[in-house]
Amino acid sequence: MKETIDRLRIDGAERIGSATTEADLEALRTALLGRKGEVTLLLRGLKDVAEADRPKMGAELNRLKGELGALLEARLVELGGTEVMDGPALDLTLPGTPPTGPGTNHLLLTTLEAVCDIFYGLGFSRGVGPEVELDYYNFTALNFPDDHPARDIQDTFYINPKVCLRTQTSPVQVRTMEITEPPLAMIFPGRVYRNENADASHSSEFYQIEGLVVGEAISMADLKDTIDSFVRNFFGANEPTRFRPHYFPFTEPSVEVDMQCVACHGKGCGVCGQTGWLEIMGAGMVHPNVFKAAGYEDDKYTGFAFGMGIDRIAMLKYGIGDIRLLYENDLRFLNQFRGVL
Ligand code: DAH
Repeated sequence: MKETIDRLRIDGAERIGSATTEADLEALRTALLGRKGEVTLLLRGLKDVAEADRPKMGAELNRLKGELGALLEARLVELGGTEVMDGPALDLTLPGTPPTGPGTNHLLLTTLEAVCDIFYGLGFSRGVGPEVELDYYNFTALNFPDDHPARDIQDTFYINPKVCLRTQTSPVQVRTMEITEPPLAMIFPGRVYRNENADASHSSEFYQIEGLVVGEAISMADLKDTIDSFVRNFFGANEPTRFRPHYFPFTEPSVEVDMQCVACHGKGCGVCGQTGWLEIMGAGMVHPNVFKAAGYEDDKYTGFAFGMGIDRIAMLKYGIGDIRLLYENDLRFLNQFRGVL
């Protein structure tokens, strides 16, 4: 058998080398390595080889099989075909795919920075807090009663009974007041999480920006003026705002802030649900219990706070109808907002 193997090694290589078409090569592959090919038959004949020689012969045959296979592939490439592709050979003269251009900030980040810039102009500075937050800061210190429905497992991603993913940026208010003496005017932008099913207006992660101003004799009029300045700057229009009474545990009184609809200027349209108004944030005067939790003398200071959704105001400004677009990272969508702000 050894001689047969040696002969096939030389003879096979010669036959492969002299093949001139891909069809010849295919025929050779069948003749040598196919189901009834010469190498295959030899492998089958191994059972008749003396037991002592069998392992050696088996190894030889497998080596031959590998060598012939490699020669077949190499010759195929020489003949202009490729190992993996059928069809015409690669045309190196074709123009390539143009590069997509340099990367850019995501619309949400651009919006977040633009909002911060407006508040810097109003004298605010910026702070941060953790996204993985203690239940204490996310709820208790913000005057949420123990049985408040927002603590329900439905809305909050709990990591353990005392630790959750923050559902709002408001906890940064308390963390900041614990280490900062008044007067202060600060904003806290960041990502928040809620256990919600995604739809056109809900996402389990989104961005908020929190504002907090504390000092002596800070009033609701300061809040109104600050928000009006922001709206004028960000939306670039003189849309009026209005306060509607509301409830938040951490402010008293609490309001929801509406601005006149950017799309119809108050006439009523699909964007504003025919009301002429768009809700843009929650706000109010800081509740004395929140001051207490932060260690402030609650009768000395007053303050206002607000919280708004970055996603929401970006969607309103650019007419984006589905929040999920902001998280899918489809370049065809994102590239429309290159350098908008
Ligand atoms: N944290 C509130 C929310 O996520 C928004 C909010 C409302 C923040 C009123 C505030 C505020 O600071 O005063 O719904």
